[in-house]
Amino acid sequence: MNDADIYSVIGEEGFARLVAAFYRRVPEDDLLGVMYPQSDLENAERRLRDFLIYRFGGPARYIEQRGHPRLRARHFPFRIDQAARDRWMHLMNNAFAEAALPIEAERPLREFLEHMSTFMINQ
Ligand code: HEM
Repeated sequence: MNDADIYSVIGEEGFARLVAAFYRRVPEDDLLGVMYPQSDLENAERRLRDFLIYRFGGPARYIEQRGHPRLRARHFPFRIDQAARDRWMHLMNNAFAEAALPIEAERPLREFLEHMSTFMINQ
C-alpha cells in the first residue's frame, strides 16, 4: 500500500485510536513521562496525530498550524538516546497492539516510525 493511501483505509478514527493509545501510556512511563508537557498532553497528542494524518494522505492540518515539520530540530530540546528511542517504540508497539489496525496499514506505519525514531536520536 502507498503511504498516501493509508488515510483512506483507517481514516481520522484509526489515527486517533493509535495515537490515543500511545499517549495514554506516556504519563506512567518512568523515562518518557517526564519529557512530555503534562499540562499539555492533549495538544501534544493532537500534534502527533495531525502530523501522521498529513504524512499518510490526510488533511494538512499539521502544516497549517505548525509549518514545516522539522522534526529532528523540534526534538533537540529532548535528550533522546537509544534507550529513550527504544522505549518510545515500545509504547508505540503496545499502542499498535491495542489499536488493532488493518495489517496492510499497520506495517508501513510501524516501519516509518521505527525509522524515524532512530533518526530522532540526538545523544
Ligand atoms: C525517539 C523517541 C521520541 C521521543 C522521546 C519524542 C519526544 C517528544 C516530545 C517530548 C515532544 C513534545 C511534545 C509536544 O509538546 O508536542 C515531541 C513532539 C513531537 N514528536 Fe516526538 N519523540 C520521539 C519520536 C518521534 C517520532 C518517531 C515521531 C514521528 C515521526 C515524532 C513526532 C512528533 C511530533 C509531530 C511532535 C510535535 C512537534 C511540534 O509540532 O512541535 N516523535 N516528541
